Amino acid sequence: MAAEHQHFLTLDNINPNVQKIQHPARGPLLIIAVELEKELKNGVKKPFKEVIKPVVADFQAMGQPPITFVRQVMSIVIYPQLLDDPKFPDDAKERARTILNGCKGGSIGSYTEASGIEIIRRHVAEFIGKRDGIPSNWEDIILCAGDGIGKLLKLFSKEANGKKTGVMIPIPEYPLYSILSNEYDLHQVGYYLDESQNWRINTEELQQSIDEAKKVCIPKVLVIINPGNPTGQVLTRENIEEIIKFAYKENLYLLADEVYQNNIYLEDFKFHSFKKVMTEMGEPYNSMELASFMSCSKGYICECGCRGGFAEILNMCPEVKVVFNKSNTVMLCPPTAGQACVELLVRPPEKGEPSYEQFIKEKKAVLDSLREGAHLIVKTLNSFEGVSCNNIQGAMYAFPQIRFPQKAIEAAKKQHQSPDKLYAIEMLENAGICVVPADGLGQVSGTYHFRTTLIPIQKMKIMLDRLEAFHREFMDRYR
Ligand SMILES: Cc1ncc(COP(=O)(O)O)c(C=O)c1O
Repeated sequence: MAAEHQHFLTLDNINPNVQKIQHPARGPLLIIAVELEKELKNGVKKPFKEVIKPVVADFQAMGQPPITFVRQVMSIVIYPQLLDDPKFPDDAKERARTILNGCKGGSIGSYTEASGIEIIRRHVAEFIGKRDGIPSNWEDIILCAGDGIGKLLKLFSKEANGKKTGVMIPIPEYPLYSILSNEYDLHQVGYYLDESQNWRINTEELQQSIDEAKKVCIPKVLVIINPGNPTGQVLTRENIEEIIKFAYKENLYLLADEVYQNNIYLEDFKFHSFKKVMTEMGEPYNSMELASFMSCSKGYICECGCRGGFAEILNMCPEVKVVFNKSNTVMLCPPTAGQACVELLVRPPEKGEPSYEQFIKEKKAVLDSLREGAHLIVKTLNSFEGVSCNNIQGAMYAFPQIRFPQKAIEAAKKQHQSPDKLYAIEMLENAGICVVPADGLGQVSGTYHFRTTLIPIQKMKIMLDRLEAFHREFMDRYR
């Protein structure tokens, strides 16, 4: 009889930190959603024809066409013979030549510097300089591929006096931070955003949270997401100044996640970068250490699959910078297609260039669709019984609160799950909409929410019609 095969890797011996990884937007609900899609494909009758999955902000996955200029340049860099094709405009060819000239051997098939192609880093610095009106040094820029935040957080993975490093993370959270904290053996210190003040960051809450955390860890990093995921707030300049002062007082490293800086939907709101505010505050704040992150996945380009982004890392100790850069060489370089995409994020067509008019039209169409969707979903959700949703000032999410009837809360308890998860499962099964229940994102105890991403406006209207009917039926059933 053949001996039973013994696996070398088993659940008992693999890294427990890896085993703990759980992404709330990639959990059991998504598995049910995929099953439902298969059933629909096989002709099983459902009350809906298509499952809508607004679980991650991936606008192109929801039907948004890409920006033509971006794809033209990307096509040329991948297949440079297109430089001779008269169908491609001169400005697209110029960007493609710039990228290819920055590549070793003139090909994006070669490795680049670990920090990215120098000319693109220089263009990122120019972009930041124009955005903030404050010069940026290209040597403070690294290009990344969705891995920049992890690369930075890894530096903090060192215990002192038996205590882990604490990373302060906004709650409700964007799960990447707790997942990475777990992976790098850091201690997650949650601080609550204030729902009653449109998810403002209160320094009293930061203080309370850090004082508590100091008993068990050494807090060293303050993560700020602005505009916020999942809560959609855009921080005022005054709020940012308070946060910077708090970080200075508590000797915290500032990690500003600013990937939604181009996604602002309300007239009176403006994006203020942490770098700009900190610099303009002068001494002693302008010499604080800060890392700011930006991505090609959001804004209006929405090239999530290209995995392109950049970070500006300010005031890092030169010796640490050497170690940091050296550690980044291990994986050689970020993918070149993502780096090319960064070039287009920071150097879109300018007035007078051949692609300008079409680019502006397409950019406006994406941002208008997002803005219209943001206004519509807030208005619609607020008209539902027992639901309140703060204004979406920016980013790409709605995060409504639901006050469930007591019977729904009891039904959830019987099934050993949270009411928001029960609601999300029933929504998926009855209305074919897959959202993220907030029990996986964190919320003030006794409150219940879910997260949905903004999706292109036509699909948003279909989703809201289905959601409205489902919500009414759910509330009636548990009344
Ligand atoms: C707040 C925030 N930061 C960072 C990212 C990562 O973006 P990417 O890895 O696609 O560049 C996301 C993606 O949803 C996000 O919401």
